[in-house]
Amino acid sequence: MIGWEIMKNNNAITLFGGTGDLTYRKLLPALYNLDVLGKLDDNFKIIVIGRRAYAPADYIKIAREWIKEHARTKFDEEQFSSYARRIIYFKMDMTNEEEYRILQTFYTLMGIDQHIYYYAVAPSFFITITNGLKKYCANNNAKVIIEKPFGEDLEKASILNDSLADFFGQHEIYHIDHYLGKEMIQNILSLRFKNVIFKGIWNKDFIENIQITAAETVGVGTRAGYYDKNGALKDMVQNHLLQVLSIVAMEEPIEDNSTEIHNSQYNLLSAIKPVEDTNTNLVMAQYNGYLNEKNIQPNSKTETYAALKLFIDNERWENVPFFIRTGKKMGDRETQVVVQFKAVGDTPGNVLIIKIQPDEGVYFQFNAKKPGTEQELQQISLDFCQSCILENRINTPEAYERLLDACLKGDRALFSQWDQIVVSWQFVNNLLDKYHKQGSPLYRYEQGSMGPEEANKLVEWIN
Ligand code: BG6
Repeated sequence: MIGWEIMKNNNAITLFGGTGDLTYRKLLPALYNLDVLGKLDDNFKIIVIGRRAYAPADYIKIAREWIKEHARTKFDEEQFSSYARRIIYFKMDMTNEEEYRILQTFYTLMGIDQHIYYYAVAPSFFITITNGLKKYCANNNAKVIIEKPFGEDLEKASILNDSLADFFGQHEIYHIDHYLGKEMIQNILSLRFKNVIFKGIWNKDFIENIQITAAETVGVGTRAGYYDKNGALKDMVQNHLLQVLSIVAMEEPIEDNSTEIHNSQYNLLSAIKPVEDTNTNLVMAQYNGYLNEKNIQPNSKTETYAALKLFIDNERWENVPFFIRTGKKMGDRETQVVVQFKAVGDTPGNVLIIKIQPDEGVYFQFNAKKPGTEQELQQISLDFCQSCILENRINTPEAYERLLDACLKGDRALFSQWDQIVVSWQFVNNLLDKYHKQGSPLYRYEQGSMGPEEANKLVEWIN
């Protein structure tokens, strides 16, 4: 593990995409939270790269408003003034290699010798930035954090990876998947492996099926240009939902360290059976009105909803269906994992729901005798709402905060790995190829609904 705990020199994070949504909405507020919690080194600087000519005070003024609105910790003027002293707005055109020479001169003048580069930009800029850094900033001790999507398919992802690997060591590349920073996704490990009641029954003998859902109420917003080229499978399934699946279904890591957790995740992802028939195992759909959204191609066939059924080729999960579904502009915002246990005779099986967002918690449904009757059963439940407890809310870092903190400490457990990205792309590329070759349909659904009717035929969802 390469940590920076011992680092007493000037260290900095450079945010490429400093005037973008991600920086304003997530990164600056997350770093503010870390500052409030005393987790940033005294010398730590935040260098924000943007093309626009902002006077430093003007940029700080903008950042202030975003932080006020989005930081988890309470906004405090004094605290913000001290935080703002870390922020340096650096105007440059990141597509012009020569400007990296000036950037390096600036780093040298500042005496910064430990770097995190954060690529908070569209993937088409990843290689450009890396080339600029390679040319003029090659001697820096640096880590790089890369946003998803990593490539648009396996081929493009490999080209990207080669370009990065030419400059950064694999241990210096942090592939961020913000779902891995979510509290309840981390909690799946504890629920599965630290409870004897679940540990022993987490397999095909006791589990009927597992459903992973990420339903969003938002549409494509201002990201139409990106989204329309990708769609739900590439935007949500290839990364976030396959990562969740890997944690839900992997074998217990042989040791509790990031390498072994990654190995288990990788083994699981490699064992997903390719989907053969996309007419019966995949439902793709687009919400009505999508084509009228700004910057969407008039005849776009991009899916804003995907539901699929898959199987895992190992002993633990033989013949157990896993259902994954995600969609935009749906009736409710709800991300959760539902574990449906087998029925005992005619008695309904137990249900475990791991609630990831917006509420965080665990729900368990089981059977008991109805009071006052002789044999009649009823389903009762235990419902633990973690996020209802104020103290938990205060103490729970947001995903980006947790992940930035982990990167500063050199803890790679919460990041996805190149080999996982490869197998995830293989699965999704194969799925899309089959979908197009088999001429499977693109269904429609109403905004505010829970997706197309056809998805109900594919799965026995428990809503
Ligand atoms: C992003 C996707 O990675 O995750 C977005 O690109 C999606 O399209 C978002 O809206 C969902 O994140 P969360 O944390 O709101 O579930």
